[in-house]
Amino acid sequence: MRITILSLFPEFFDSPLSCGLMAKARARGVLDVRVENPRDRATDKHRTVDDTPYGGGPGMVMQVDPLARTLDSLAKPGRILLLSPKGRPMSQELARELASEEALTLVCGRYEGIDARFEELYPVTSVSVGDFVLNGGEAGALCLVEAVARLLPDFMGKQASGDEESFSRGLLEYPHYTRPEEYRGLRVPAVLLSGDHARIAAWRREQSLTTTLAARPELLAEAGVEASDLDFLRDLPRRALGRNLCVALVHHPVLTGERKVGTTSLTNLDLHDICRVSRSYGVRAVYATTPLADQRALAESLAAHWVAGEGGRGNPDRSEALRLLRVVPDLAAVRAEMAEAFGRPPLVVATSAKGAGTVTPGRIAGRLARQPVLLVFGTGHGLAPEVLREADETLRPIRPFADYNHLPVRAAVAVTLDRLLADHG
Ligand SMILES: C[S@@+](CC[C@H](N)C(=O)[O-])C[C@H]1O[C@@H](n2cnc3c(N)ncnc32)[C@H](O)[C@@H]1O
Repeated sequence: MRITILSLFPEFFDSPLSCGLMAKARARGVLDVRVENPRDRATDKHRTVDDTPYGGGPGMVMQVDPLARTLDSLAKPGRILLLSPKGRPMSQELARELASEEALTLVCGRYEGIDARFEELYPVTSVSVGDFVLNGGEAGALCLVEAVARLLPDFMGKQASGDEESFSRGLLEYPHYTRPEEYRGLRVPAVLLSGDHARIAAWRREQSLTTTLAARPELLAEAGVEASDLDFLRDLPRRALGRNLCVALVHHPVLTGERKVGTTSLTNLDLHDICRVSRSYGVRAVYATTPLADQRALAESLAAHWVAGEGGRGNPDRSEALRLLRVVPDLAAVRAEMAEAFGRPPLVVATSAKGAGTVTPGRIAGRLARQPVLLVFGTGHGLAPEVLREADETLRPIRPFADYNHLPVRAAVAVTLDRLLADHG
């Protein structure tokens, strides 16, 4: 494969391309890497490659012409990749895709970036190496070159090592050990010394699954996990973030049909479905709040039927879900119960289909690891303004940019819990 790198700092690549496997692969002709400096194609006597931005602003912008001339001079540019924080995230999947190309050209930006017309003139794939900003594309280009090169046939001495690595089967890698057998009291796991290859393979698979669940659970969704893997994962202890989370379904004060603040009636379907969803995500408790004593009595008799009565005997799954239900007069009672159960008051997070919200699900997921959280949902036309005002945070709405986002509260609970807990808890 030929890789051409366009960079204003060719010396950046001197050492990394001349050591280890990379140097050997280049010497054997597995990989032909060249670095071209667009400054060599500048046409003025100062060899200018940048200029100030139109419209003003800080920094300089790389001019399109020196880059275009350099690209046009290449006999075999192949697929053109532009290192950019706006690009497609670099991944093992992209590395595999690129490894099948005959040639690649990597374009490294500097300063504030490159004149936007460059991307209009050439069929460019932008690639980002992460959600951070580097001084230039060179460090990113190196990552890309290395990730792609080691997938080329003959790059590594023993091809198998490439296949076993992290991400190649969608899972993170199992731990490795080498001599000595014991170091500072820590022994190599006995199974690795057993000589039993089937057991070693099974242990490694389980270690990969355990590491992935702990460190990057979102990878499991795309990984090639089998039924036996799922059985193993189900039995693993996990960070049960849902144990720190309670859901409240508020029936007063909420906005009613006339957009006035009032009270709604409890509904059987909401209670069933919100309890089932909450149980599925490992939520600690579901509170239904209503100031109406007869409504509370109704909800309690419904729960009793499913938890301890005839319903629960016929449908134990339903019983398990309805066990989460607590019926209380108002949010103050929920707060008090949670403060007692957790030993500290919860962070109260209200939800609304309107507005921008004060916090994202990702941030609340982070907080859940450290403190109890009460997630408050409204019935009717949503929570009354005073509930939103008194909450510590308001969650960013689901689909805030869409022209229609009127979800039933049961669906809103399901979507929100998935965003907060996904398969982590
Ligand atoms: C200082 S950066 C320009 C940042 C740009 N003004 C912005 O705010 O997005 C200069 C160059 O570094 C490269 N670069 C910076 N961060 C990167 C990243 N995360 N992934 C890939 N390339 C990156 C790009 O080639 C970029 O043109």
